[in-house]
Amino acid sequence: MNKKTVLTGITTTGIPHLGNYVGAIRPALSESRNENVNACYFLADLHALVKNRDPNLLRESTLAIAATWLAMGLDPDKSMFYRQSDIPDIPALSWMLSSVTSKGLMNRSHAYKAFVQENKINHSRDPDKGVTMALFTYPILMAADILIFNAHQVPVGKDQIQHVEMARDIAQRFNHLYGETFVIPEAVFDNKTAVLTGLDGRKMSKTYNNSIPLFVDSDKLRKLIMKIKTNSLQPGQPKDPNESVIFEIFQAFSSPEEATNFKEKLLEGLGWGDAKQILFEYLDFYLEKPRQEYNRLIMDSAYIESILKQGALKAQNKSSEMMIKVRKAIGLQAIE
Ligand code: TRP
Repeated sequence: MNKKTVLTGITTTGIPHLGNYVGAIRPALSESRNENVNACYFLADLHALVKNRDPNLLRESTLAIAATWLAMGLDPDKSMFYRQSDIPDIPALSWMLSSVTSKGLMNRSHAYKAFVQENKINHSRDPDKGVTMALFTYPILMAADILIFNAHQVPVGKDQIQHVEMARDIAQRFNHLYGETFVIPEAVFDNKTAVLTGLDGRKMSKTYNNSIPLFVDSDKLRKLIMKIKTNSLQPGQPKDPNESVIFEIFQAFSSPEEATNFKEKLLEGLGWGDAKQILFEYLDFYLEKPRQEYNRLIMDSAYIESILKQGALKAQNKSSEMMIKVRKAIGLQAIE
């Protein structure tokens, strides 16, 4: 049986938090253990350039994200784990794809439209103020990421579904013009995958500054958990577990039995302070081992670099095969 290729990228613009783990990293790790899946996970550092012009931050984020995946158990021998910028075929393919992509398709990108809308609200004379070409053509680079490895499925968050749809459009257009070349990818979005709530009650996100990083030390973890917003119910008063961020985070990590147990305690009137303490102890224990591994890895950037280089070799082998096919199809290379 042919293996199914599942591919996803992680933009290197921050340090992973609990929400990233539960929503993206954990499901991807479990997929990578499936025998019938060829898992490709990469650090989208070229995409990060759209938002990040600080070289140190970019380096730091790349290292932190790579170390997180490894510390959480990604086996680089059983998956393809690489850094986008190590694969020059990706930006090369992006150019070729841009020659079959209409500008109108890019005009419809939500991310671009949001910028234009913002400029309108601010009465800017230039509707494209602050829009770089990288922002505008972001979906084409993303299409190249996906198409170059013939990905069948692309697990993404809701905000990225449109980009995968665009990759489909671009692949179809290319295949129509030049003959069957690319697999038509499919976005995989699971409504059930947990989106964690942050400290302030909004979705946990780096942008809102309300997140709990995965690998902070115990002290900091306790402090952050103590900041979770609660209502004013007193100890002894029954609390609705479904309304509680503390319970939501606990449940995202615990077994169903442990969750039921915690639920009962809340219904019986457990105080918020005690509930936070329970969550803290649970998470601190859960994260202790991977945190040690993470801290070890982050100090050993040469090791991480060597893992990424090995991943790059694997990926380059694959991408160069695809590029020969593409070059022949479009007439850049003779068909021998
Ligand atoms: N744009 C995606 C994000 O911000 C990251 C990404 C880049 C990606 N290339 C990709 C995701 C290819 C899936 C497939 O989340």
